[in-house]
Amino acid sequence: MALDALPDGEARGVAVAADGGARDLIVVRRGGRVYAYVDVCPHLGTPLETFPDRFLDLGKRHLLCTTHGARFRIEDGRCVFGPCLGKSLASVPVAVVDGAIVLAGPVPPAPEPQR
Ligand code: FES
Repeated sequence: MALDALPDGEARGVAVAADGGARDLIVVRRGGRVYAYVDVCPHLGTPLETFPDRFLDLGKRHLLCTTHGARFRIEDGRCVFGPCLGKSLASVPVAVVDGAIVLAGPVPPAPEPQR
């Protein structure tokens, strides 16, 4: 994905090939930094979004799981509000190389859902 395709302060969903299958990721840009997470909520294991690319709360301060309203810090994926408080999204290593956002390591497993 081109960095220019991700405006500052926005988030997008992308599918990547990993572990022999497709994995859905969330990519978020804050200034020159880009963060990526596996699109699986640590509460019950659902994707965060209800509508394509709608990952942020209204103020665009946090990633939002629309299933039960959990909010996650963009910088580290930690849940700061909601039913999975203190748990985290699975962080995916990414880098910007020649204007493109690329994987910088393996895609981690999704977080285990709460029981
Ligand atoms: S599944 Fe995400 S908050 Fe419940």
